[in-house]
Amino acid sequence: MSHKQNIHHLFLFTTLSSIVFIFSSSNCVSGLAQPYHALVAPITKDLITSLFSITLNIHEKYVIDLGGPFLWYRCPKKYPTVPCASPACSSVKPYFSPLCPSLKSESRAHCKCVVTPVNPVTNKCSLAHLTHKDLSISWTNGSTPATSIAKFKKQYVSCAPQSLLNSLPVGVSGMAGLSRSLISVSSQFMSPKLKIKKQFSVCLPSSDSAPGVMFFGDGPFRMVPPTPADILSFLAYTPLVKKPKSGDYYINLKGINVNNNKVVSLGVEGNGGVKLSTVVPYTTLSSPIYKPVFKAFVKATYGIPRAPRVKPFKYCLNTTNLGSTRVGLPVASIDLVLGNGRNWTIFGANSMKQVSDYVACLAFVDGGPKAKQPVVLGSFQIENNFLSFDLEKSRLGFSSSLFFIRTTCGNFNFKGEMWG
Ligand SMILES: *[C@@H]1O[C@H](CO)[C@@H](O)[C@H](O)[C@H]1NC(C)=O
Ligand SMILES: *[C@@H]1O[C@H](CO)[C@@H](O)[C@H](O)[C@H]1NC(C)=O
Ligand SMILES: *[C@@H]1O[C@H](CO)[C@@H](O)[C@H](O)[C@H]1NC(C)=O
Repeated sequence: MSHKQNIHHLFLFTTLSSIVFIFSSSNCVSGLAQPYHALVAPITKDLITSLFSITLNIHEKYVIDLGGPFLWYRCPKKYPTVPCASPACSSVKPYFSPLCPSLKSESRAHCKCVVTPVNPVTNKCSLAHLTHKDLSISWTNGSTPATSIAKFKKQYVSCAPQSLLNSLPVGVSGMAGLSRSLISVSSQFMSPKLKIKKQFSVCLPSSDSAPGVMFFGDGPFRMVPPTPADILSFLAYTPLVKKPKSGDYYINLKGINVNNNKVVSLGVEGNGGVKLSTVVPYTTLSSPIYKPVFKAFVKATYGIPRAPRVKPFKYCLNTTNLGSTRVGLPVASIDLVLGNGRNWTIFGANSMKQVSDYVACLAFVDGGPKAKQPVVLGSFQIENNFLSFDLEKSRLGFSSSLFFIRTTCGNFNFKGEMWG
């Protein structure tokens, strides 16, 4: 452990970018002579909570949170701690959650690093120790998991009390943060030493019948036929935006179209108007944006019989005689017009939530007049969409509905069976 203690002396003389190097060189990783450059984990959907979990260490499930600064879990009784004056501890200071009581200043000498794991569903926060944990995950050639496993030793993770697991799916071990923090799961897995590029991809499934897929590293990525081409070749890109003191991923939003008509205009800059979230179930729009979108959508679906409203939604349709298209119910499309002019088009499959056999509701929620963020793009809107967070080029690749290219997020070949 003397190596770890030396780190903080080194830190005084290093820049932020070299912290990454120190982290990866202090983590002992096995399997160096492997031919792969990407890691893969299945994503399962919990139908009760609409939360999504990845599986690590063969059988441990962690709810994924794009905005979370690290992985947290219930530690064993005895666990190693991390010194306060370590770069790992310093690197998470900016993400100290205001939901937690503020920490009394401690004596610097032998203090243990305290962090603030948060359950974003209940908004509960806890003061807990930063610790280490071994994490393992499969390598992949992009088509199927490889038989070799990448073992990441002594990764920085946080402890959490059992109570922080309240309202999470039954059987999960904790949460896996994927944010820009230097000790998020994605940051620690995207190891230059292992030639894993700074890129991760998320494909959320819409049901619990087949798992979706998460990749760390670069493609090509292939889903089973009928789409054997590299899924990355279907993506459009828009710049990723960073905000101070936030590890979240944002993209610019210039406006919103409904049924090809401009209904919301947010100016040419679109300054980080959209936050991406895997823990908010439905896209939340601040009232000044929600109202015109809602009105335009109601107008554009005037001919379809309505059904009684089902909470938390305000507009539901009777789909008995509506039929459907390849991309879901035939309703007006909703375009997010992104900063670089690209349209992210949302079709019926991602705008209308089927709440019963014959009733579907507009799955956008009014965040109120004082919403902190104009748009939080929630998980229902990104199900069966392939999203690739390319941090090297600081851009987001997005596919819109994979139904267009006749595949789904449940079509990665996890079983390794032969095809085509
Ligand atoms: C990936 O590995 C599987 C199983 O070994 C093999 O069948 C497949 O052809 C490989 N795909 C590529 C693109 O190398
Ligand atoms: C985006 O959508 C609008 C209308 O829905 C259309 O006029 C515009 O050309 C589209 N932009 C791109 C880049 O496809
Ligand atoms: C939907 O419409 C069908 C046919 O018009 C009708 O029989 C049914 O009661 C309606 N259901 C609801 C929930 O409105």
